[in-house]
Amino acid sequence: MLVDSHAHLQWESLDRDREAVIKRAIKAGVEKIVTIGFDLPGSRKGVRLARKYHNVYATVGIHPHKASQVNDDVLNKLKRMAERPKVVAIGEIGLDYYRHLSSKQAQQRAFRAQLLLAEELQLPVVIHDREAHVDILRILSRFTSRLKGVLHCFSGSPDMAVQCTDSGFYVSFAGTVTFPNARKLHETAASVSLDKILVETDCPWLAPQDVRGKRNEPAFLKHTVEKIAHLQETSFETVAMKTTKNAHEVFALL
Ligand code: NI
Repeated sequence: MLVDSHAHLQWESLDRDREAVIKRAIKAGVEKIVTIGFDLPGSRKGVRLARKYHNVYATVGIHPHKASQVNDDVLNKLKRMAERPKVVAIGEIGLDYYRHLSSKQAQQRAFRAQLLLAEELQLPVVIHDREAHVDILRILSRFTSRLKGVLHCFSGSPDMAVQCTDSGFYVSFAGTVTFPNARKLHETAASVSLDKILVETDCPWLAPQDVRGKRNEPAFLKHTVEKIAHLQETSFETVAMKTTKNAHEVFALL
């Protein structure tokens, strides 16, 4: 059994067949799905999906692309939403210096504010880090031992992975690890302790190599698990068991 630790089931490209997508996930052995918020409406919709489907859990948060939206009113709304049943984390939050849709300053301010919110609520965080490794580590270092969570779609070096796992964070691998030219990522995925790894689809994006170009969905998670098993020179079952256990631990899934 697997846990998809990072999906966006609320995305509108899934509106027409969400039910079928969730059924296919269960059939493919994905027993639980964490659907990740990225703005207020998306977070709200995720919370609704978690109420509707027994195997879906939600997180609430404002993505760095939308960092300039974060203010006291938004933080209060997130806080209220976070108190709803089956909301298991604050996220996704972080920094994106690749697409840079909000200014660095706004992104860092929104990131810090939501880390403080997670600390206050004693919830883990789901972190988005794109080409912002140094600032992510710098900001997180101020919260060491006060926060736990996961760096999603991890893209850092083996050294960075060690820094993250040493500070109590998990690293999550997405379909990008199945891409044949992602050599640095292969090295990282081979080196991280299985006790610190999660797996995710980040659907509807980042479909794994075998289904590349398609709309991604939780049922495709097995490709990523297969690749990690290969890189770690272990079995599919071992990676499935460990990553499921880790996901239950970090998100306190019931
Ligand atoms: Ni995401």
